[in-house]
Amino acid sequence: MTHFLDIHKTAPGDLRAMIDTAQSMKNARDGKPRGAPDSEQPLAGHMVALIFEKPSTRTRVSFDVGVRQMGGQTMVLSGNDMQLGHGETIQDTARVLSRYVDLIMIRTFEEVTLLELAEAATVPVINGLTNRSHPCQIMADILTFEEHRGPIAGKKVVWSGDGNNVCASFLHAAGQFGFDFTFTGPQTLDPEPDFVGFAREKGAKIAIERDPFKAVEGADLVVTDTWLSMHDSMSAQERRHNQLRPYQVNEALMEAAGPDALFMHCLPAHREEEATSAVMDGPQSVIFDEAENRLHAQKAVMRWCLGV
Ligand code: CP
Ligand code: NVA
Repeated sequence: MTHFLDIHKTAPGDLRAMIDTAQSMKNARDGKPRGAPDSEQPLAGHMVALIFEKPSTRTRVSFDVGVRQMGGQTMVLSGNDMQLGHGETIQDTARVLSRYVDLIMIRTFEEVTLLELAEAATVPVINGLTNRSHPCQIMADILTFEEHRGPIAGKKVVWSGDGNNVCASFLHAAGQFGFDFTFTGPQTLDPEPDFVGFAREKGAKIAIERDPFKAVEGADLVVTDTWLSMHDSMSAQERRHNQLRPYQVNEALMEAAGPDALFMHCLPAHREEEATSAVMDGPQSVIFDEAENRLHAQKAVMRWCLGV
């Protein structure tokens, strides 16, 4: 079964092939209305279930549109409305859904839910975000970086803020795509040591630098994300904001990074918290290209999963 569970669990050659497929499919759609079908219809006759146990705008809409452009059909399911949210096991859910659909995408809380779903399903499963990682986002980010700056291998990516699920997938990608990655943030919010270890074992240069201005020197890309993720308790908000304020991506930090550094944020953003509007809407920002590229990257991921 070809699941897309995480970037560090997918072979580098397959990841590269997906990015290349995404780019050529994007190019082939140039100028077409969003609802127009792709000239090839690789998902014709395929049914895709999109399960959400957390809110979503980009993941939900981009998967749905992507399947339809490729000729397939979708059903968007809220975990709460399913028996899954009322005590049915994930294993039974997986076995039942596998009788109806050809592919399952899930956004959930605990990683174990994703892993158990994949273990019991007899159709491919895609990770649409867990508390621990967000691989589809980083596939879109690699595509976005390379569209603007060429190959990401050997480039320097700096993450400023919380060492969260999106940061984790960037670390996995540093190992698989061969770029340097610097984390800057408070020690209490460092990324998981296992993920840092993975990237280092793969030969990527990984640094942890507490001073954000030092960290961004020579950066090709500066990235941040919300200071409080969907799985984080609201009671942590004030403490986190106080700890993370020095890591806000603002004009001063982007100036320290230099004029050629790009700025990314997976969105949704809390403007004037983790990043200022001056940066988000400024000349170095590619945040809406990232959002668009979720569509193209995930189409390639789905084709890879289904072998079509
Ligand atoms: N970036 C991202 O995954 O956005 P959504 O939460 O809107 O899906
Ligand atoms: N880190 C954020 C990403 C949202 C797309 C969260 O998990 O809420």
